[in-house]
Amino acid sequence: MWAAGEAYEPYVGRWSRLVAARFVRALDVPPGGSWRDVGCGTGAVTRAVLEAAQPADVVGVDPSESYLAYARAHVHDPRARFVRADAVNLPFAGGAASAAVGGLVLNFVPAAPRAAAEMVRVVRPGGLVGVYLWDYGEGGMEAIRAFWDAATALDPRARELDEAVRFPLCTRTALGALLAGAGLVDVETEEIRVPTPFHDFDDYWTPFLGGQGPAPAYLAALPEDRRRALRERLEAALPRAADGSIPLRARAWAARGRRTA
Ligand SMILES: C[S@@+](CC[C@H](N)C(=O)[O-])C[C@H]1O[C@@H](n2cnc3c(N)ncnc32)[C@H](O)[C@@H]1O
Repeated sequence: MWAAGEAYEPYVGRWSRLVAARFVRALDVPPGGSWRDVGCGTGAVTRAVLEAAQPADVVGVDPSESYLAYARAHVHDPRARFVRADAVNLPFAGGAASAAVGGLVLNFVPAAPRAAAEMVRVVRPGGLVGVYLWDYGEGGMEAIRAFWDAATALDPRARELDEAVRFPLCTRTALGALLAGAGLVDVETEEIRVPTPFHDFDDYWTPFLGGQGPAPAYLAALPEDRRRALRERLEAALPRAADGSIPLRARAWAARGRRTA
């Protein structure tokens, strides 16, 4: 599912970037910090750290060689490097980082509490752990919500693949509880809302054809006639501005906490 960085970018990368910029600024880590970006993918969060936090270094880890290759090819900064690793087994000494962060990742890690424990392990006492996930429900990540609403109307079996159903971690309460359960203190949660405007229907639809993520994977498995029916249903259902653009929004839940000093 995570095999083509260039297809991920127009699908979710462009919107994660907007959330990452706000998320990193709100963490308010002092300049000169050493950062870990867990599940870095194509590098959205790493880039936000480089642009906003004046870090000494940032190490991104991800199991996808394709996404790592994309990140290495597009992030040209001597403070950043990218390493292949799993969130549940981070290749870092304990207690060394100022901050460990992860964007849109922990719902895809089957053992999310273990990943959270790893993030806590690698930060120094007093260091920060911060994560964010889409809200896939009503009023959340509207582009993906609209997809599953249309898919389920045509095929009730699609409901069990809907990320709002599959990922109970993607709520403010569950995310905060995950970090508190990992032993962090001063846990805070926040809502991050970003606009996700699409120029036209093709700008919305084409990225779903790239196979990256649960909704594009569902689409790729459909026969051509059902794919066409889903496309037509969505084209009729999505809201339109006067200029023909599609004015959607997205909400992410962010949570952060400190390792005890
Ligand atoms: C939705 S993408 C998010 C990528 C990036 N952080 C962003 O905000 O754009 C999910 C990422 O999680 C990664 N991932 C999935 N399972 C993982 C695991 N067990 N450990 C670390 N990363 C994982 C995928 O390879 C993919 O890059």
